Amino acid sequence: MTTSRRKDLLGLEGLSAAEIEAILDEAALYKAKPPKTPLAGRTVAFLFSEASTRTRSSFEEAALRLGAQPLSFSAAGSSLAKGETILDTMRNLEAIDVTHFVVRHERSGVLEDLAPRVAASVINAGDGWHEHPTQALLDALTLRERWSSFKGRRVVILGDVRHSRVARSNLIALKALGAKVVFCGPTPLVPDALSALGAQVEHDARRALKDADAVNVLRLQLERMEQGFVPSLADYALGYRLTPELAALMKPDAFVLHPGPMNRGVEIDSAVADGPRSLILSQVANGVFVRMAVLSACDRGRPARG
Ligand code: CP
Repeated sequence: MTTSRRKDLLGLEGLSAAEIEAILDEAALYKAKPPKTPLAGRTVAFLFSEASTRTRSSFEEAALRLGAQPLSFSAAGSSLAKGETILDTMRNLEAIDVTHFVVRHERSGVLEDLAPRVAASVINAGDGWHEHPTQALLDALTLRERWSSFKGRRVVILGDVRHSRVARSNLIALKALGAKVVFCGPTPLVPDALSALGAQVEHDARRALKDADAVNVLRLQLERMEQGFVPSLADYALGYRLTPELAALMKPDAFVLHPGPMNRGVEIDSAVADGPRSLILSQVANGVFVRMAVLSACDRGRPARG
């Protein structure tokens, strides 16, 4: 098996299809057979300045299953709150032998500058509107387990694409693996200019979903409501909430994904989220194995210590 070896994972932009496949293969291997403790002696610190349930918990679980030590660290209770920079924080944690940083931050691209300035691996757990690479990898693994190939598959990404790091990383992964991607939502949340990224843009949910192979429903970021991106929740739900009727337009064997957290009754109905086509909890379960593969790839790519 080819294995990925890199110091950092800041995004999926620039990764080849072969490297994405290699990470998915390693995740599948960990799922089939738990490894011994290849990361024994490593310490993984979590720098999260935004809330998280799935990403943080599954990275912590992944670190433990690989034999690494997760370092308990809360951004809010740390000296970051007193104005210490992230870089100084990382360098101080490196001084106590942190080998991997898993970082979630509200500013897009913040890690590009930080990663080359520390010896430890830096893994993006979501930065602003930019990327959420491990989410897209776990989404891809979840679909790959059900499809022999992505070629000829059409995946609809439905909702607030404009503000979604999940949409960006998914587009990169799905295109690399050979699928066609359709972004669908109202124009303020899915501007036509997004087609420049290589997705088809569609504003009519019925047209987008007709004969689709899968839909990945995005969280409507309720905080954007104040900024006037959609007139009202009811208005949005009327056109774009994934109801059983809308879901029935897809192929009979099509799948429903959602990265979470869900606004039930806003972007998705419970009958669909909890229905037979839903892969939502399989996505969460696969998050652990994908994150084990990413932590391992980044461990192999770290510079040797002197
Ligand atoms: N999908 C995702 O990133 O979920 P959390 O915000 O709970 O980590």
